[in-house]
Amino acid sequence: NLPAWQYYEEVGSTNDIALAWLDQGAPDGALVVAGHQTQGRGRLGRTWITVPEAGLAFTLIVRPNAQLPFPVERLTALGALAVAQAFKVGFGVDAHIKWPNDVLIDKRKVCGILVELAWQEEQLQGAVVGIGINVGRAAVPPAEGLHYPAISLEEVLGHPINRWDVLRRVLEAFFAWRHRLTSPEFMIAWEDHLAFRGEWVQASDGHNPPLIGRVKGLSPEGHLRLRLEDGTEYRLNAGEIRPLA
Ligand code: BTN
Repeated sequence: NLPAWQYYEEVGSTNDIALAWLDQGAPDGALVVAGHQTQGRGRLGRTWITVPEAGLAFTLIVRPNAQLPFPVERLTALGALAVAQAFKVGFGVDAHIKWPNDVLIDKRKVCGILVELAWQEEQLQGAVVGIGINVGRAAVPPAEGLHYPAISLEEVLGHPINRWDVLRRVLEAFFAWRHRLTSPEFMIAWEDHLAFRGEWVQASDGHNPPLIGRVKGLSPEGHLRLRLEDGTEYRLNAGEIRPLA
């Protein structure tokens, strides 16, 4: 019998533990939390470093059901929105979602989300939503190893905070939205938190040469709407963006 949640002092990656749990029948909403990860991973094959005490790393299990259709980007958005709202409600900090999966404060990355799907005989078993947050100052690694400028929540606040307080707030927001992913309110809240709205960004989808466009908002499917230099609209459905300036 698997517990609905478990804290591990040290793991390779909380996503791996959660994927194994999923395979063994863990319920929707089950939570894996780690004090330290030795093999934390990010999107696009990148490494994610979780510094003991300063970083917060956890993964939630989500199983499909009638209310939960499964566009992956909604789960990524669910994680990112939960973190942004937790920062606002719990700590009065404004955070934005760098589509599709990062949370930024002052245009610097404070959190990354990695959603992974589990299939069995071509049937979707569920997904794991892995969330890594830079809570303490020590969580931010030296700049030279970084793909994107980073910041910690404590650096923004100027005083120490309790990591478990952050976790509790994120869980509250996560479960508040969990069964409302298809509601118009979810799309509105997600779009309201988009970073770089109205600003020029460089977008790459991993296949075509990068595009330059202005962030307009979200399409009904959750794709990023960009206005290109020639005035046409482009919808990015995968990949990542970075600010031009
Ligand atoms: C990214 O920025 O590319 C995503 C980073 C995701 C990191 C979290 S930490 C908890 C979970 N376990 C992992 O190995 N990765 C995610």
